[in-house]
Order: sequence, then structure tokens, then C-alpha cells
Amino acid sequence: MNALDAMHARRSIREFTDELVPAETIRQLVEAAGRAPSSKNTQPWRLYLVQGAALDSLRSDYLAAFDAKSPAKPGYQYSPNPLPEAWAARAKECGIGIFKHKGIGRDDTAKRSAHDRENFRFFGAQQVFFLGTQASAYAHGTFFDCGFVFDNLMLGLTALGYGSCPQYSVMIYPDLLRKHIPGTEDTLFIAGLPFGRPKPGSLVNEFQPARLPADAWFKTVA
Ligand SMILES: Cc1cc2nc3c(=O)[nH]c(=O)nc-3n(C[C@H](O)[C@H](O)[C@H](O)COP(=O)(O)O)c2cc1C
Repeated sequence: MNALDAMHARRSIREFTDELVPAETIRQLVEAAGRAPSSKNTQPWRLYLVQGAALDSLRSDYLAAFDAKSPAKPGYQYSPNPLPEAWAARAKECGIGIFKHKGIGRDDTAKRSAHDRENFRFFGAQQVFFLGTQASAYAHGTFFDCGFVFDNLMLGLTALGYGSCPQYSVMIYPDLLRKHIPGTEDTLFIAGLPFGRPKPGSLVNEFQPARLPADAWFKTVA
């Protein structure tokens, strides 16, 4: 699979098998992802892999926090508030689209909540990456750099036959990450990335929201 194929093939995967991605494969993936460019080669990213018993206990704390409706304490604000109108329309279409795809009705609050809860069990993944950076050195450009590594991971996983789902939702409880991941007192967590082998025949994994045609956002000036 070449780079363009991987870009087209990647989609968010929200149901996984229990198969583990071997440690050696993860090492190769992470080494390759770390080839990402960064301003002045600062390489400001930090990446944590949580799996095994550590993931079991992190997951159980996340689910308890979600079920108790613990107040969100995000380390950073992801989106402008309010969203520009056109962005809000696309976000709404995507949100409605996934519920429709799963056959969840507009008023079915129980099923909608169960869908949201899946985030907090990391969609059942056996392995989750958490991307972060140095909290005391935060700047917009730092996030830009970190995003390149994150995308490399997602595309690399796709090329290797695995899947992943980027997650901001779980960033509402960064204290849980600091509790379970040692040495992260000065880490600003940016996103989670549950990953693994996509579950064959999964309905949710077939969902893929449409994209704007490139002409809507790309212009050549000559
Ligand atoms: C930074 C980031 C955070 C995201 N957070 C979540 C999330 O918390 N839960 C979720 O189900 N999807 C999440 N997504 C996935 C987006 O909804 C998805 O990328 C978008 O709808 C396009 O679909 P595709 O990834 O299948 O192409 C996130 C994506 C990004 C890039």
C-alpha cells in the first residue's frame, strides 16, 4: 500500500478484535512515525502506549468517571466556540450520520449514551496510544508538530492492516491519564488513539462520513 492508498483507506475504527499488535511491529511503527517533521526539529511529542493490566485499570477508571458524570476538566480547548456555521453543519451531519448508520433514533437517549460510553472503554481496544507534549511549553505550533506524528501512526497502522480511532473525547479526564501513566505531571495530553485489528463484519467500522470535494478548499494560484 503506498502513501496515497493509505490516506484513502484510513477511516476511524470503533470495534476491534482482541488480537494484539506485536511489540516489534509497534516499535517499527513508532520509529517510522517519529520521522515526522517538526519546526527546527524540536520533536516536541510524547507518546505513551497503554496496554495489559494498566489499560484494564485505566479503562475501569474512565468508565466510572463517565458513569458518574464526573465534571470534564480538559487540558485544552479543541474547537472554537461557537464553531463557524459551515463547520457546525458538517459536525452535525457527522453526528447524526453515525447514529443513523447504527440505527439509533433521534430520541433514543439510552442508545446515544451507550454510543458515547464506547469512547470511554476505548472501543474495546487492547492497546491505546496517548499523544502529549510538554505542558509548560505549549504553543499552537507544538500541536501542529504533534499532529504529524499522530497522522503517521494512523496511516502506518492502516498500511499494516490495522485500524485506529483518534479521540479527543477522553481528554476530558486528563487527571486519570496522569494517575495511570507515571512521570506525566508536566504532560499536556492531546489525544488518544485506540488501535488494533478491525473487527470483521463490524457495522460501525463501515461508517465513513463524506468529504468535501477538493475544489471546495483547494485553489491553485498561478
Ligand atoms: C483529533 C480528533 C479527535 C477525535 N475524537 C473522536 C472521539 O473522541 N470519538 C470518536 O468517535 N471519533 C473521534 N474522532 C474521529 C472523527 O469523528 C473522524 O475522524 C471524522 O468523522 C472523519 O471520519 P473518518 O476518520 O472515519 O474518516 C476524532 C478525530 C480527530 C482528528
